[in-house]
Amino acid sequence: MESSDYEAVLDDVEKLVRPVVGSGETASYIPALAAVDTSRFGMAVADTEGRVHGIGDWQEPFSVQSISKIYTLALVLAQDGEEIWRRVGREPSGNPFNSLVQLEYEDGIPRNPFINAGSLVVTDRLLTLTGDAYGSLRDFLRAESGDDRLGHSPVVAASEAEHGDRNAALAHFMASYGNLDNPVQEVLDHYFAQCAMEMSCRDLALATGFLARHGVRADGSRLLPVRAAKQINAVMLTCGAYDAAGEFAYRVGLPGKSGVGGGIVAVVPGKCTVCVWSPGIDRQGNSVAGVAALDAFTTLTGWSVF
Ligand code: DON
Repeated sequence: MESSDYEAVLDDVEKLVRPVVGSGETASYIPALAAVDTSRFGMAVADTEGRVHGIGDWQEPFSVQSISKIYTLALVLAQDGEEIWRRVGREPSGNPFNSLVQLEYEDGIPRNPFINAGSLVVTDRLLTLTGDAYGSLRDFLRAESGDDRLGHSPVVAASEAEHGDRNAALAHFMASYGNLDNPVQEVLDHYFAQCAMEMSCRDLALATGFLARHGVRADGSRLLPVRAAKQINAVMLTCGAYDAAGEFAYRVGLPGKSGVGGGIVAVVPGKCTVCVWSPGIDRQGNSVAGVAALDAFTTLTGWSVF
């Protein structure tokens, strides 16, 4: 697609979703996120060559939250191959992202790497492999987005820590099954920092390019085997929107990953990555206008995987 075509599609998407921008609520369980203005909307598309087009607030940094779970998983798979799948599953949970219930009857093995419990295990492994899980994530995101000022918000991370009883419960519970190797507090600190990364739609669309390029990084080097990139995309499709993954696949038809900051990243393998941000989220934690925008995008372009 030509540049002007991307711009035209983004214009049409924005017109279609305007009426729902502002719907939903911010994530009040993380007080530092509660104050974000729900009338914001931005969207960016990056092609596999790294050309980016955007609309609205596409260059405005926001809290990436659970979108970070894609990259920690990719870094662990890159360094450790299939090992991680002994400690975390890859089936949709059908439960909220911070639910505790399945963990007990499934022996401390989280259903997938995108619910909080699964991501804590992935962060624990990344910490063991690198000695600095958050630092290696941040360096990767800086390199892929080409913005070496990217970092996390200490205010958001502290707010998550202060209201982090549920994540702490998940981590302690898994530790009781021997499914964490590092001290719980250390794993939580890295996890809260990773979720508090601040990036724009532009940054995230670029940083996710390796999944559209079947495992190849922005500089042309290979991060992952083709097969591992396929696997991450598949887990995003089935688990990236939590207990709304079915509805997301039905409406959007792409691998996607949402965060309670209101961002969603989606991948059109072989073609492009799309990131949308609008802070109003629904009960499952997915941006209301974000899902609507991706629905409109795949409908207008015909670029779903189906
Ligand atoms: O741990 C948490 O609850 C948040 N830092 C991340 C949750 C999240 O983004 C779920 N996404 N929709």
